[in-house]
Amino acid sequence: MKIAPSILSADFANLARDVQIVEKGGADYLHIDIMDGQFVPNITFGPGMVAALRPVTKLVLDCHLMVTEPERFVTQFAQAGADILTLHVESTPHIHRALQLVKAAGIKASVVLNPGTPLEQIKPVLPLVDQVLVMTVNPGFGGQKFLPAMLGKVKRLDQLRQTNDYHFEIEVDGGVSDQTVQSCAQAGADVFVAGSYVYGAADPAKQIQTLRNLAAV
Ligand code: DX5
Ligand code: ZN
Repeated sequence: MKIAPSILSADFANLARDVQIVEKGGADYLHIDIMDGQFVPNITFGPGMVAALRPVTKLVLDCHLMVTEPERFVTQFAQAGADILTLHVESTPHIHRALQLVKAAGIKASVVLNPGTPLEQIKPVLPLVDQVLVMTVNPGFGGQKFLPAMLGKVKRLDQLRQTNDYHFEIEVDGGVSDQTVQSCAQAGADVFVAGSYVYGAADPAKQIQTLRNLAAV
């Protein structure tokens, strides 16, 4: 099981400090939300931010690209030091080629689906990927309400990897908190992204530990 704090809810003016707080607090991944203002109605950071954070932390840099035609940026993010690149199936007509590019860059490839996207859409790429991200809110903003109906997708993915020879981990992102993390773990999720739950509290380390304890089912 892995806990992945999202820096979307960190203090951007003190990012290095906030990254070190969750690293010391026992996080496994650092989740970096890249938004282009087109695929989602918000703008955040680019490969320059990943490159700037790389020397600051040993955490796995889990980069979630909410970007139209993300294949245009795979090389840049890989060179910046990303460990995992997560691409939306809705963001390109060539998701298979885009994921192949990620693998060819020597890093982990991950595919993600929006709440409105059926699981069937990613079935052809499941043999390729190291991780599948199931969005449990609509992407674009932190602090939204968890969508419990998405747990069905997590369960079906878990069954699919058991009946096939798939090796991907299942990540959930959006509205993950002490109220929802257990249901995600029970459905089969392995990686838990949490932004506002971790950074919205006075003691992020305690929040990480609470999530870890509740997810250990
Ligand atoms: C939403 C992002 C999430 C976001 C989650 O588009 O993908 O990673 O940071 O925030 P919370 O945990 O507050 O829902
Ligand atoms: Zn995310």
